[in-house]
Formats: sequence, structure tokens, C-alpha cells
Amino acid sequence: MVEHKRIGILTSGGDCAGLNPVIRAVVRRAAGTYGWEVLGIRQATLGLMANPASVWPLDIKTVDSWLTAGGTMLGTTNTGNPFAFPMADGTLKDRSEEIIQGYHQLGLDAIIGIGGDGSMAILRQLAQQGNWNLVGIPKTIDNDVGVTERSIGFDTAVNIATEALDRLQFTAASHSRVMILEVMGRDAGHIAISAGIAGGADIILIPEIPFSVSHICSKLKGWQRRGKNSALIITAEAARAEEGITMMQTDAAGQCRLGGVGEYLANQICGNNIAETRVTVLGHVQRGGIPSPLDRLIASAFGVAAVDLIAQGKYDQIVTWQKRQVVSVPIAEAIAQYDKVDIHGTLVKTARGLGIYLGN
Ligand code: F6P
Repeated sequence: MVEHKRIGILTSGGDCAGLNPVIRAVVRRAAGTYGWEVLGIRQATLGLMANPASVWPLDIKTVDSWLTAGGTMLGTTNTGNPFAFPMADGTLKDRSEEIIQGYHQLGLDAIIGIGGDGSMAILRQLAQQGNWNLVGIPKTIDNDVGVTERSIGFDTAVNIATEALDRLQFTAASHSRVMILEVMGRDAGHIAISAGIAGGADIILIPEIPFSVSHICSKLKGWQRRGKNSALIITAEAARAEEGITMMQTDAAGQCRLGGVGEYLANQICGNNIAETRVTVLGHVQRGGIPSPLDRLIASAFGVAAVDLIAQGKYDQIVTWQKRQVVSVPIAEAIAQYDKVDIHGTLVKTARGLGIYLGN
């Protein structure tokens, strides 16, 4: 018999599909199996910083319909590092102690943090400094968290990007155009290479393999000579030309974001008189919407396993997906590795084997 516990759960970093199914699984396992209390913490660590903490007591009935809901019902933030928190007067302040106290004031026995590598590193630092019992669950459409083959949200993002290619190919063929799809993924090309293969792209550009504009133009010209007048290109947002730098955009608030490589490439292709070219930037469409069945499945498995770790008193661990099993590993191990596309791996070999051009 496991003693009664009160556990907290928060979602941190960018949203993605699959977060609500994880929360649902945690509540069903914690409340349904163990009879524990579950407090949903709103807006990630901001909910613990608020005094009193901003929480939502969750029961099985509340989360009943959350399996198919996109985003996160708890809210999230991907700005505001607690150790250098941006204040209204423009200064940065260490507010970690306020967050740590939020955990203790709530009387939590443990906390489940759902996040990517950045969030996980921050949560671990808070846990160590504040003596928290932390269990992590990896989520990110970028699928770049080390040691897990899959993070929540990746599969849905790949499905959406693949569907976008499926649609774009008709315009490419109808207008004899080059259609470029720019996808997210931060510094890793997992979404681009997976969707590119699944969606029949002719060219896939990933950050791990810098591309040559002149080689891409020659390739397109060669295809045209052989009667292929349209082409589908998928590029990761951080892909860059061999001779260039990663493209960034600065918004009105002065924040830098990856993006612009699709437009850059289109200008090069048009400028070299190769073909009429259009760009679609998929953006946050990849993060939203109904979670795919695989994301729901992994979310459910991760949620149950995370609660079981708490029942066993195993903390500072993150659940991972390895060879169709949930395996827990130390959080430190997961955040020490940034998982990029293996340029000697199966997907790169498959793409090349299919005659897909990888830009160099
Ligand atoms: O890390 C997830 C991600 O969607 C990246 O792929 C992308 O570069 C970034 O977040 C976008 O962040 P924001 O929502 O702040 O624009």
C-alpha cells in the first residue's frame, strides 16, 4: 500500500499536441490507482511564483475529455528563466526561491515536469536547490531530447508537415513550380527529414547537412532537362547554406526567432531563373491540433510510468521511449545530450537511397 500523496504537475516550454493526454494519464494513475491528490500548476513555474500559487485541483472527471485536446489546459511559458527573470524595469532577477517556496507552501510530495531540454534543465536546478522530488516527462515537436527515441508532440508535428507536403505537391505539379515548405525543429532536422521522406519531397534540407545553393540549382535544372518541371523542397528552419549563417528574424519585441531560410532559397532559385518558386512557412500549425494516436499512446505510457516512479520513490528521473518500452533515466543524462539527426543513420541513408537530394 502506497501512502497518500499530493503531487503537482506542470507543462513548461512551447506547447505541443499530447500535453493534455499526459496530464489525463497522470491524474488517472495517481487518483484512480493510488488515491492521491493532483494539483495542476498553471503557466509552468509562473504558477508557483504567484503568491498564493496558482493551481487547479484535477480529478478524473475534470480530465475526462482531455485525450483529444491540443495545447495544454494548464498553460505554459517558454520565456522567463527563473534564475534570470525579466523584470518590468528591464533588469534580470533571480526569482528561483519564490518558485521553490511555492512547491513547499502547497505541501507537495513530488512534482511532474513536462518539458523539453531547456525546461528540464531549469526544473532540475530548482529541484536540487529546493529539495523537490522531481520526475520529468519529455515533450517537444523538435524531438531533440537526448536518450528518448520519441518526445510527446513530435509525431503530430510530422503528420501535419507531411500533410502539408501532400497538399503542396498538387500546386507544384499544376504550376510547374518549386514549392518550399519551411518547418520548425530548432537546431535539429528531425521533423524535416521524417516528413520529407513520408511526404515525397525531392529535396530535404536539415541543419546537420549545410546545403549548397548552386548544387540545388543544378539539381533542379537537371531534373527539368529530364522533363521534371516541378519540385517539392522541405527545409528545417535552422538549415543553412554552406557559405551562410542560420537565418533569424527579429520581431517587434526584439525577440530573435529561427526562420527565413525558405524565402532565402526561393529568391536564389528565382534569381537564377530556374523556376517560379513559392514558400509556405508552416509555423505553429505544427504544434496545435488534435494529438495523433501515437502521441496519445506515448503520452499515456509516460504519464502512468511517471506516477509509478513517484510511488517507488525514484526521483530526478525522466521517462523515455526506448525500443517500444518506457525506460527511466537520470534527468542529468537526458539534458546532457542534444539529439540531432544522425547523418550516418537510417533516415539519411533512406532519403539518399530514394534519390532525395539533401543539399550537398
Ligand atoms: O521548441 C519548439 C519550437 O516550436 C521550435 O521548433 C521553434 O523554433 C520554437 O519553438 C518557436 O518558439 P515560439 O513559440 O516562441 O515562437
